[in-house]
Amino acid sequence: MPRLENKIAIVTGATSGIGKATVELFVEEGARVVALDVNAPSEPLPQGVHFIKGSVADTALWDQAIADAQSKWGTPDVLVNAAGVSTGALLHELTDDDFDFVFGINFRAPMKGMQAVIRALLAEGKPGSIVNISSVLGHVALPAKTAYGVSKAGLSHLTAIAAKEYGEKGIRVNAIAPAMVRTANRGYAGMTSSSEVTARLDTLVDRTSLKRWGEPREIAQSILFLASDDSSLVTGTVLKADAGYTT
Ligand SMILES: NC(=O)c1ccc[n+]([C@@H]2O[C@H](COP(=O)([O-])OP(=O)(O)OC[C@H]3O[C@@H](n4cnc5c(N)ncnc54)[C@H](O)[C@@H]3O)[C@@H](O)[C@H]2O)c1
Repeated sequence: MPRLENKIAIVTGATSGIGKATVELFVEEGARVVALDVNAPSEPLPQGVHFIKGSVADTALWDQAIADAQSKWGTPDVLVNAAGVSTGALLHELTDDDFDFVFGINFRAPMKGMQAVIRALLAEGKPGSIVNISSVLGHVALPAKTAYGVSKAGLSHLTAIAAKEYGEKGIRVNAIAPAMVRTANRGYAGMTSSSEVTARLDTLVDRTSLKRWGEPREIAQSILFLASDDSSLVTGTVLKADAGYTT
C-alpha cells in the first residue's frame, strides 16, 4: 500500500533539489501535495500537485497554502519545510541584511509554516507530521556559515520544542540533517571560481564515511519515513542523513 495514501502534504522549496525530489516521491506514494516555491517549476508537475509561487517568508503564502489545501482536498497532514538559502560570510563581515535574509528563510519561515499547519490541525483535532530540513551545519561548526549554521541549529531546536508541545495531540515533529547533497545549494564564502568551490566541496565529501555525495532522492526517502506512519513512534529527533559526515 502506498505510504502516503489519503495524505495531504505541503512541501516548500518544491521546484529544486530535495524539495522537488520529495514532491515526486510523495506523489508516487499516494499523497496530494501543495508545492510552494519562489521559482516556478521548469517542467510540468505530476498530477496531484497544486503549485503556488511565492516566498515562504511571506505569511500570506501560508494562509493561501492552507486555504487551497482545505478547499481542494482537506487540512494538510504533512508539512515539509525544505526551502532554504545558503550564503557565506565570516562573522566580522556578515551584514544585517545577509543575516536577516538567511535567518528569515531558514528559520522564521519554517516556524511560520509550522504555526499555520499546527493551528489548522488543532482546530480539527487531526494528527500530523512535520519534517524540517535542517543541516549538519546546525551541529558542526563550519567557517563562514554563521547565519546558515545558527538558522539550522535554531530549526533543529525548534523541532524538539514543538515535538514536546504537540505530541499529546498526535502531531509529530522531526528534522533531517543532511550533508553534501548534490543540488543547486552550493555557495561558499569568498569563492568565486567554480574550480575553487569544487575543490572545497571535494574535501568535505572526503570527510563522509561513505565518501560520496548524497542524492536528493535519498534525502526524500528519509523525509518519507518521517512523514509517514512508518515512523509513528518517532518525534523530536534530528535524523542525520549525512553519509557519515558527523560520525
Ligand atoms: N544540498 C545540501 O548539501 C544540503 C545539506 C544540508 C541541508 N540542506 C538543506 O536542504 C534544503 C533544500 O536545499 P537544496 O539543497 O535542495 O537546495 P536547492 O537550492 O536545490 O533548493 C532550494 C529551493 O528552495 C527555494 N526557495 C529559496 N528561497 C525560498 C523562499 N523564500 N520561498 C520559497 N522557496 C524558496 C528555491 O527556489 C529552491 O527551489 C535547504 O533547507 C538546505 O539548507 C541542503
